[in-house]
Amino acid sequence: MSENSESPVIPVIGGTGALGSGLAKRWATGGARVVIGSRDAGRAGEAATKIAEESGGSVVGMTNEDAAKAAEIVFLTIPFRNQSEYLTNLKGSLSPGQILVDCSVPLAAAISGKATRTIGIWQGSAAQQAQEMVPEGVVVVSALHTVSAPGLSDLSHDLDEDVPVCGDRKADKARVAELIGRIEGLRPVNAGALEMSRIVEQLTALMISVNIRYKTHAGLKFTNLPEGESF
Ligand SMILES: NC(=O)c1ccc[n+]([C@@H]2O[C@H](COP(=O)([O-])OP(=O)(O)OC[C@H]3O[C@@H](n4cnc5c(N)ncnc54)[C@H](OP(=O)(O)O)[C@@H]3O)[C@@H](O)[C@H]2O)c1
Repeated sequence: MSENSESPVIPVIGGTGALGSGLAKRWATGGARVVIGSRDAGRAGEAATKIAEESGGSVVGMTNEDAAKAAEIVFLTIPFRNQSEYLTNLKGSLSPGQILVDCSVPLAAAISGKATRTIGIWQGSAAQQAQEMVPEGVVVVSALHTVSAPGLSDLSHDLDEDVPVCGDRKADKARVAELIGRIEGLRPVNAGALEMSRIVEQLTALMISVNIRYKTHAGLKFTNLPEGESF
């Protein structure tokens, strides 16, 4: 797939899952060309067909390895417990100059603990762990931790929430923000350096705790941000 800004190619590694397929559905609805990645090309194809039908958009499926080569910005939506190991598998597929957007949340549920607790990571955050695992020259930006997969997946649900984006270079974050902003109702917010992801990742546990009590898919919202400010 060739790139163009009108309908960018957006690969989602682990795109058969809850978050990945929800994002894919929204991006495809908005006119992006989505690539669903999976460990199994057949499963990716099935998911892509279903998402294309539901969204009316352009969605193809392929292996994660092929999906990782499909565009410069690649989204990683696999369970946190598999993130480190799987990035090792993808080392031969990612190349310098690419941006990997990590969405991993280190919930204690990954090790049979509570979904309202998180686990400590030596590097500080799942995103910083990812940055250690990717090949030299690949940049990790982190985002989308607080957006609920069921909310994304239900196209009749109007989204209206902020998405903190963490990364060490403003230009990289701006490119990722452009893709996130293509989803109607999601407003990307520059949350600072990649190390800020250690705080953003914790917010998911808070959101889950609130959602359990209010039986909803609450979103995050910052007040008093200037309107129309460039990212
Ligand atoms: N769910 C949410 O609401 C939500 C919100 C924000 C952030 N997140 C974060 O987003 C990530 C994905 O969450 P999710 O709920 O979408 O997860 P999920 O549905 O459980 O899994 C996503 C995909 O990961 C792949 N996968 C499973 N085991 C794997 C392994 N051992 N190695 C490589 N790939 C594997 C599977 O695809 P294949 O079997 O097709 O390869 C699966 O469809 C997590 O890190 C989570 O913390 C989730």
